[in-house]
Amino acid sequence: MTIWPIKKLMKERTERFKNKVIQMIEWKDSYRLGIDIIDEQHKKLFDIAEDAETIMVMPEHVDRFDEIITILNELRDYVKYHFEQEEKLLLEIQYNKFFDHKVAHNDFIEHINAFNIDEIDEHQTEKCLELVRILIDWLIEHVLEKDKQWAKVYKEKKNM
Ligand SMILES: [Fe+2]
Repeated sequence: MTIWPIKKLMKERTERFKNKVIQMIEWKDSYRLGIDIIDEQHKKLFDIAEDAETIMVMPEHVDRFDEIITILNELRDYVKYHFEQEEKLLLEIQYNKFFDHKVAHNDFIEHINAFNIDEIDEHQTEKCLELVRILIDWLIEHVLEKDKQWAKVYKEKKNM
């Protein structure tokens, strides 16, 4: 089995696609909610999305199964950790939309868990694209919209 110099390849791809794809999901400071611990975690999610995108745009003939699974596992673990942290803060301020927010978190976890290993193996580019789309939609709709709402309440209550 050929072992791809994945880091090198990813760096080249990132350069190559910088203006086309990567820029779309690049972390920007304007995405900050003003709560450092959460901002750092959101930034990490953007990094994972970038990695997924880099894998997605690799040539069709390259076997990327291992890389996709690695990213999927990393995402699953990190999201679980991040949601737990975020939900702690929501409980701390007795956020009135806590349950709606938790449902949205659980829905996202379900999306991630729904990926089927055999399907990933057979349709690597498509499945990677699906993962990237789900993740980008999440980052845009949830992180940049819904999280902004609770962060505003949190900062008011904590006099930040
Ligand atoms: Fe959230």
